[in-house]
Order: sequence, then structure tokens, then C-alpha cells
Amino acid sequence: MYKLLGLIALAALGAFPIAWIQADCNVCQSNGASCINQTAYNLCFGGSQPNTNQTFVCTDGLVCTDEPVICFQRSETPASCGDTDSCGQCAPNYTFACTSRSTFAFCFGAITPTNVTGSCPDGYFCDASTQEICVTKATDDSIICHLN
Ligand SMILES: *[C@@H]1O[C@H](CO)[C@@H](O)[C@H](O)[C@H]1NC(C)=O
Ligand SMILES: *[C@@H]1O[C@H](CO)[C@@H](O)[C@H](O)[C@H]1NC(C)=O
Ligand SMILES: *[C@@H]1O[C@H](CO)[C@@H](O)[C@H](O)[C@H]1NC(C)=O
Ligand SMILES: *[C@@H]1O[C@H](CO)[C@@H](O)[C@H](O)[C@H]1NC(C)=O
Repeated sequence: MYKLLGLIALAALGAFPIAWIQADCNVCQSNGASCINQTAYNLCFGGSQPNTNQTFVCTDGLVCTDEPVICFQRSETPASCGDTDSCGQCAPNYTFACTSRSTFAFCFGAITPTNVTGSCPDGYFCDASTQEICVTKATDDSIICHLN
């Protein structure tokens, strides 16, 4: 099972550019934490593999991020992984919705996405906070749908 996860992780790392590596579950980030989902994490203790013997949970209202303090306000920094709240949401501009990390659907002014869909080019990911739809670099305002 872990071998399989490792292979998937390797495949994911190869498929995405550096800037994207930190936006994944179960990856040791520069802050020494590995997010399990939107709100929980393991520590890496200086290694490259998360120590899964201890699991920590962010306090209410905070999400697991790659900021030095690990748990940070969701309104200021997107969670490193596991945030699916924005998936398929046309708001606020009703132009498009991200339906996964790399796919989107047009909304044409409606609340729910239409079946007119597209995918981002290799190395790009869908960011609902930008009119460019697909971008290569996350910003503090990024709204990313963490579905594969
Ligand atoms: C995140 O993972 C922790 C630990 O496994 C679990 O207790 C928690 O319910 C999970 N949270 C979500 C939002 O899935
Ligand atoms: C996790 O806990 C198990 C059982 O207590 C122990 O054998 C193992 O060495 C621990 N792993 C790490 C990475 O600390
Ligand atoms: C999209 O939905 C419309 C209406 O439901 C349907 O007529 C059309 O064939 C669908 N297009 C695709 C590409 O699925
Ligand atoms: C939404 O519309 C506002 C005002 O036109 C614009 O400034 C903003 O960039 C748009 N956001 C997106 C995600 O398209």
C-alpha cells in the first residue's frame, strides 16, 4: 500500500512544476509539516518522509499550509491540500468553476457549471481567483480545487 502511494507521489511530483509540489497531501513541506488533509498534519522532523505516528490537528478556523506557523487562516493562505470547497463553484464571477486541479467548466452566468469543460495545459492548474483560469504559480489569493 505504501509502495503504491509512493509511486503515485513520485508520478505526481514528476507531473507538476516545483511551485506545485507544496500543494499536495502527505508531502514534507519547507515548514517541516506534511498536511494530511485541509486541517490535519504530520511532522517530518527534518526528514523527507512524514512521521505518521503522531497526527496534529489545526485549531478551529485554521488550515494546514506551507507557512512557517503551519496552521494559518484560510482567508489568507490556501490550504496545502484537501480543500474541495471551491470545486464546481461558479461564484463570485459566474464565469467558470474549477472542477479539479487541472480542469474547469464554464458557467456562462449560471450558478452551476455547464457541461462545456476544458483542461489546463501541462504544468498549469486551475485557479478560481484569476481571470486567466489556468496558472502556473499559486498566490495568496488562489482558490484551488484539490481534486485529482
Ligand atoms: C483530517 O484528518 C484527521 C486525521 O486523520 C481527521 O481526524 C479529520 O477528520 C480529517 N478532516 C477532514 C476535513 O477530512
Ligand atoms: C512508529 O511507532 C512504531 C510503534 O510504536 C515504531 O515501531 C516506529 O519506529 C515508529 N516510527 C517512527 C517513524 O517513529
Ligand atoms: C450538454 O448539455 C446539453 C443539454 O443538456 C446537451 O444537449 C449537450 O449534448 C451536452 N453537451 C455535451 C458535450 O455533453
Ligand atoms: C471578477 O470580476 C471583477 C470585476 O469585474 C474582476 O476584478 C475580477 O478579476 C474577476 N475575477 C475573476 C476570478 O474573474
